[in-house]
Amino acid sequence: MQKVLVTGATGRTGLLVVNKLREYPTEFKVVGLARNEAKVKEIWGSTEDFYFGTIKDKTAIEKAISGCNALVILTSAVPQIKGAPEPGERPEFYYADGESPEEIDYYGQINQIDAAKAAKINHIVLVGSMGGTNENHPLNSIGNGKILIWKRKAEQYLIDSGIDYTIIRAGGLLNEPGGKRELLVGKNDELLNNPPDGIRPAIPREDVAELVVRALQINEAKNKAFDTISKPPSENGENVKIDFVKLFEQTTAGL
Ligand SMILES: NC(=O)c1ccc[n+]([C@@H]2O[C@H](COP(=O)([O-])OP(=O)(O)OC[C@H]3O[C@@H](n4cnc5c(N)ncnc54)[C@H](OP(=O)(O)O)[C@@H]3O)[C@@H](O)[C@H]2O)c1
Repeated sequence: MQKVLVTGATGRTGLLVVNKLREYPTEFKVVGLARNEAKVKEIWGSTEDFYFGTIKDKTAIEKAISGCNALVILTSAVPQIKGAPEPGERPEFYYADGESPEEIDYYGQINQIDAAKAAKINHIVLVGSMGGTNENHPLNSIGNGKILIWKRKAEQYLIDSGIDYTIIRAGGLLNEPGGKRELLVGKNDELLNNPPDGIRPAIPREDVAELVVRALQINEAKNKAFDTISKPPSENGENVKIDFVKLFEQTTAGL
């Protein structure tokens, strides 16, 4: 039985990971770290197995991670919309004070990795984003936060930590059903810059959550970092059978 801490558990992918892990009660005991108690109650109707606090607070992380074997990091700085844009008007974004990508996606992840090391965690699964090889990627200009650059620096910190890692860098996240698409893995943003057959470099959050669960189950996912996108969904709407061992075997160590 693995006891797994999921951070960013109230996020759109984080909550799917919590729910999927809870489908294997003999394999995983799941605890969550969240900063918003009301949101946890709204999603799950109860705060059982949840710890509360910000990832800027090392003590809060230490309490949540105590006794765990694995950590899933799904925290990410959340951009806020400036003012109230008129319909059709392009919204402008900013990060709240103290919640910039540097503070959350870099120092916040470092706090988690350091706490994991101190708690002798065996395996960290970190969900990140493709695009980090390009300083001029449009996401980096949001609030001048350079989010993808900070995320990539945190990935390197994790790799250097000596803890077994799986780094899943997703393409554009879709709120669409999982299991309907073949998944592709790559490196160095090649799938973003040159996607096969010009497909959209995107993947459902459900499929990313499935990858997280499989990464915790399958040894071939350990000490790997990879980009991932999906092919368009199957035309008949049926589930696609994926050999996750083979998929992870295609991935490699290092950034
Ligand atoms: N959006 C995309 O198209 C895209 C594409 C590729 C990769 N990604 C990456 O994939 C990952 C998951 O994305 P998502 O859209 O599912 O995430 P999300 O919904 O934005 O969730 C982010 C989570 O981080 C939490 N968080 C932020 N600051 C925190 C703090 N100081 N302390 C504790 N928790 C904090 C948020 O808490 P609250 O719930 O309280 O706000 C939320 O639960 C992210 O790393 C994202 O960058 C996104």
